Amino acid sequence: MQPRRSRRLTTEVAGLKLQNPTMLASGILGTTSDMLRRTAQSGAGAVVTKSVGLEPREGYPNPTVIEVECGLLNAVGLPNPGIHSFAEEIRSLEGLEVPLIVSVYGFSPEEYAEVAAVAVQAGADAVELNLSCPHVKGAGSDVGRNPKLISEVVKRVKDAVDKPVFAKLTPNASDIVELGEAAVEAGADALTAINTVRAMTIDVETARPILANKIGGLSGRAIKPIAVRCVYELYRVLDVPIIGCGGISSWRDAVEFILAGASAVQIGTAVASKGLDVFRLVAEGIESYLERKGYGSVKEIVGLSHRG
Ligand SMILES: Cc1cc2nc3c(=O)[nH]c(=O)nc-3n(C[C@H](O)[C@H](O)[C@H](O)COP(=O)(O)O)c2cc1C
Repeated sequence: MQPRRSRRLTTEVAGLKLQNPTMLASGILGTTSDMLRRTAQSGAGAVVTKSVGLEPREGYPNPTVIEVECGLLNAVGLPNPGIHSFAEEIRSLEGLEVPLIVSVYGFSPEEYAEVAAVAVQAGADAVELNLSCPHVKGAGSDVGRNPKLISEVVKRVKDAVDKPVFAKLTPNASDIVELGEAAVEAGADALTAINTVRAMTIDVETARPILANKIGGLSGRAIKPIAVRCVYELYRVLDVPIIGCGGISSWRDAVEFILAGASAVQIGTAVASKGLDVFRLVAEGIESYLERKGYGSVKEIVGLSHRG
């Protein structure tokens, strides 16, 4: 069931028109065109694909995703079919009723640009740069924590595509604002904050780390206050749309991110626990909140918590 269409909920991020400010986060369900279409039909205002690179990758051996207190811990290792094969899925989504954002990664700025160019040629409405995957050596971890590399990647991609470019930032650095500044100065049209938080868990019986990769990324409820702080800090300094992400599972969470400075929000882990209905429920809850508080649009409350 789609959420009611409402003018109050329509919004815009870097020129992309959204019927409501919710998006599917990268890596959750976004591996096939069928799932992306179903997510759009369930009420997401936009959908982001799983991150895709130049070559196919198998990812890490199991276990790759485990449930921990207040969230999920994952180290999947970016399994994907490679952009040339994935381009078929993108093409088959022509006519999708919501914007399609393709998440890309690469092992060099040139590779990011090449993948992004193929994605846009195939029909992506925007690309999101996965700069921050904390568990693939040489891909996200080096790029995402280094402002100079971020700048190079963003510049290369901006030169290669004529669609909006979102830079997705890692919280695993001492100063996320420095990373955001580098992306914006290089031409990023929006920032997505945040990717997962580096974390691990150990089995006390076997005395071994549980993830095959030992260290992974934490998502879900546990990271929400970290993500809200990141959005707040970025909004305070940078004049660019921010897409908030991290632990959102209800309209209250979404509104909190918008008040911190997000123009839209992404939902990942909560889709696994709550199902595809979560987009409609969050959107309808935001609408009721706006109505109850006497606001005419989402835009009116973006960054409202920064007042005096
Ligand atoms: C199983 C899993 C796979 C993920 N894969 C990707 C990915 O391919 N690219 C990416 O940018 N983020 C990926 N993420 C991170 C999410 O997009 C999101 O930034 C993070 O999980 C925080 O949001 P959440 O708490 O709503 O899940 C993944 C997260 C999970 C749980």
